[in-house]
Amino acid sequence: MHFLNLLASLLSTAALTKYVAANLRITADHHSFGGVNYPGLQFLEPKERNNIIRSIVKTNARVVRLFIRAEEKHADPESEIGVFDRTILDQFDDTLAAIHRISKGKVKVIIAPHDAHSLRGSNNVPCDAYCNKVDGAFLDFYSNLDIRKLYKTRLDVFFRHYPSKNFGERSWSTLSEVILGVDVQNEPWSGIFPIVAGEPWLCDIANHLKEEIGLGEHNIAVISGGISGANTPDGTQNWPDSAMDCKAIDVIGIHGYYSNGKDETAGTPWAKMFIPGNTITARALGNKLLLVEEMAYVNTDAGLSYKKSAIWDQGNALNLRGIPWMYSHLTNKDEGTTAKVSITRSANFAIGALTDILRRAYTARSNFNWSKYLPAPPALSNLTLIPMNPFIPEQSDCTFGCPGFLCNGADGCATDLICKNSICQTPNEQQPGKVGDVCNSKAVCLAHLKCEDEVCQECMPRPSIASNDKRKITWAGDPNLQCVLDSTQPFLMRPLCQLPRDKSNPCQNAQHCNADEYCDWGLCKACTEGCLGMKCRSNNKCKTGFCNSFGRCDYPGKAQKPVGPGVRARARGPGWNAGPKNMERGPNKVRDETMRINIPVDGPKATGNPTS
Ligand SMILES: *[C@@H]1O[C@H](CO)[C@@H](O)[C@H](O)[C@H]1NC(C)=O
Ligand SMILES: *[C@@H]1O[C@H](CO)[C@@H](O)[C@H](O)[C@H]1NC(C)=O
Repeated sequence: MHFLNLLASLLSTAALTKYVAANLRITADHHSFGGVNYPGLQFLEPKERNNIIRSIVKTNARVVRLFIRAEEKHADPESEIGVFDRTILDQFDDTLAAIHRISKGKVKVIIAPHDAHSLRGSNNVPCDAYCNKVDGAFLDFYSNLDIRKLYKTRLDVFFRHYPSKNFGERSWSTLSEVILGVDVQNEPWSGIFPIVAGEPWLCDIANHLKEEIGLGEHNIAVISGGISGANTPDGTQNWPDSAMDCKAIDVIGIHGYYSNGKDETAGTPWAKMFIPGNTITARALGNKLLLVEEMAYVNTDAGLSYKKSAIWDQGNALNLRGIPWMYSHLTNKDEGTTAKVSITRSANFAIGALTDILRRAYTARSNFNWSKYLPAPPALSNLTLIPMNPFIPEQSDCTFGCPGFLCNGADGCATDLICKNSICQTPNEQQPGKVGDVCNSKAVCLAHLKCEDEVCQECMPRPSIASNDKRKITWAGDPNLQCVLDSTQPFLMRPLCQLPRDKSNPCQNAQHCNADEYCDWGLCKACTEGCLGMKCRSNNKCKTGFCNSFGRCDYPGKAQKPVGPGVRARARGPGWNAGPKNMERGPNKVRDETMRINIPVDGPKATGNPTS
């Protein structure tokens, strides 16, 4: 099946506009964006720091996420609880000023004012003053009200009391020209899911940032920071009800570490997670903004030669779905086999792929309105085709239309696959009209297949006109390239796949169609009422099948299942790290008294590891 090293079936852009949409393209006039994490940027020598900022600006990154925490050779500004080192805040302030000056105001900063990893000394972050205070019972940080008060003081000192050295002694809470948002913490409860203690901490701290410190009145976003650590592909760790229902949280920060694997690229989990109108995106729209605050390359047995393509695939999928993203993370040191991308290397290393996809993020569209926090770019991308990955290694066993690849239309996938929700996938067993299925005037084939001798026939993707250097072809739909015509192909084993123009796929129910279609008397049709993501009161008003508990028509796909250390803990038996009995979810239902819970050191997963 993976014989398709010929790149792509290419059609002129004009022809493609007539396609039956299979890609849920975002047409809203809002912008998305891309950015990078750069822990420790403030600790570099000013000259080097500025050179790096210059390089970041050139990548078209619009946001840099910085951490206030200790590093191996650098102290946390709160050396003892309640004792702050002003020189370290000055150093951070210098970095804010340098970013603002060098980018001419185009690049903004997200600040993680503390890192849950520093409560345990995990993930190479040293144990800090709070870590000493909780002494191994790290959930005390959330459930102990005295410690919460101390943490609020930390936030007050950073964002309200510290007079900015470079911005005329203003407090950081007013610097919306350079600060886009502030995390409540980096990865609160990291590795613990469901949250077993201190859940009200979340909205309490968010309120404190927004109202008391005043980020809200200055249009600086309060961000949830990656609750419980990295989100699993089918999981809901990062958006518990306590975050979604908390008014003070403006942005849900999502962290995910996905690798390319069998039947998917590193971008496929993102493309599935954010189908427009699905449970999370419909629930968030108009209520919260969604931001992938951390995404990264994860090394696999396939090796480092896939690093570039894996980074690019993730950015591409998020650009398609209109969800802004930030790479985790940049460095000026060696990359090794890690996710790190060195900003100082030349463009044929990972930074080249990251820069390419950041440039595309710069003009990508979104269904979410970010303009309060980040001005729109001069122009948004036109609604052309999903670009193809130019960084797929030559030795890859598949370069076009494989399972998990993004597709523009039915002929963008290998012929035994179906392009559904812009992802090439194996059709469901019950999907009518597959290769080999019986067909007749009533039972039609999938739109790209021909019915001959009462059987849906296999076909061959339309090749592009041969180029001497096939690597030159880098994206589908390049208006400079041409595809072969039916009439110019005399010696084909199989017929060319048909243009699915004006043809719909057959179906038995909505699951056989794209998420923005419904099944109308055996054929998928564009949906206009009772569609995915639309408001509903009952199931019978939803053409997609059912009305979810958030009052939106939902896609009857695989249910999102809770996974993570908390769930495994329950599987081990009731005694282990299980939290209070009969605990219900939600900010008002969880007990809030002090609880000492010692988390086994090897229990929680560190960020940066594959999550499954
Ligand atoms: C986007 O948000 C901005 C600022 O909150 C607002 O002024 C603008 O009208 C919004 N745009 C749309 C199209 O809703
Ligand atoms: C989109 O199309 C318009 C009109 O054809 C053009 O002026 C504009 O530059 C295009 N935008 C981009 C980002 O390519």
